[in-house]
Amino acid sequence: MYPLRRNRRLRATESIRSLVKETIISPNDFLVPLFVVEGKGIKEEIASMPNYYRMSLDQITKEVKELWNMGLKSVLLFVKVPDKLKDNKGTEALNPNGLMQRAIKSVKDACPQMLVMTDVALDPFSKYGHDGIVFNGKILNDETTSILAEMSLSHAKAGADFVAPSDMMDGRIFEIRTLLEDEGFFNTGIMSYSAKYASAFYGPFRDALDSAPVDLKDVPKDKKTYQMDYANREEALRETLMDVEEGADIVMVKPGLCYLDIVREIKDAVTVPVAVYQVSGEYAMLKAAAERGWLDHDAVMLEQITAIKRAGASIIASYFAKDVVKLIS
Ligand code: PBG
Repeated sequence: MYPLRRNRRLRATESIRSLVKETIISPNDFLVPLFVVEGKGIKEEIASMPNYYRMSLDQITKEVKELWNMGLKSVLLFVKVPDKLKDNKGTEALNPNGLMQRAIKSVKDACPQMLVMTDVALDPFSKYGHDGIVFNGKILNDETTSILAEMSLSHAKAGADFVAPSDMMDGRIFEIRTLLEDEGFFNTGIMSYSAKYASAFYGPFRDALDSAPVDLKDVPKDKKTYQMDYANREEALRETLMDVEEGADIVMVKPGLCYLDIVREIKDAVTVPVAVYQVSGEYAMLKAAAERGWLDHDAVMLEQITAIKRAGASIIASYFAKDVVKLIS
């Protein structure tokens, strides 16, 4: 009770504030998404993601060494697939010599201790831009999950430490875990995109990988039959608890900032680590506002990352990872 308690005492100086700070950001918090393309010497900026790049394998190896030296020890790989290799079933995703499989090996060769996680979903390989097989205007579930399991196995064989299914099909975690166990990949982990919302914040990412759903008759225009309705909260718990039961080592909430209520609830409901993906649209918004001089880039970035961690994230996938680490070190 005032005046016995004066809360401002604990805010009076920088020294006392740092002593009582509850949430501290470090390089260990981050998972760095990387966009891989075919070719040599390629480092092209993504138009809607200033200062973020698609890179060919030779550039990726340089990048991971730089990340490692900064204390960033985990990457999440995505590939941009040439149109001619896309079909409805993601056939190219299973190619043992495909871009993803080569990327995993290149990263491990360049930096053996770097933790490599891989995106598992059909969309970069789908001529329709969907995370599953399209049939008669619908996305097939069980046919898709068997391909996702094969894809995960292929990544594990190439050397991936974790697979990260981002597709939101039902039952895929169980199917992936079962196949990995059957094939002896006991130590390959699964980071499940458990509560992934059908969000308009993924726009810049779809530009980066050219992976947006195509506008064709009999192809769903959005991902709302598999990604979650952003109006829903209980559904996120249901999805996440099921993924844990099915064998997920890490669960994830995506996007980040608009969903911190969900992050906290999931954090309180599970005993596995919770990851948050601060997505491309969140990155683009801050870059655009800062470019116009409307927001202080570094201050807002740190505030947002800290809020994500405070909400309960033990892992943050973020395009700001390098910027943050430079700022705090
Ligand atoms: C694809 C996938 C998406 C993202 C990660 N994996 C896009 C989508 O679901 O359409 C989005 C990441 C971002 O926006 O940064 N399965």
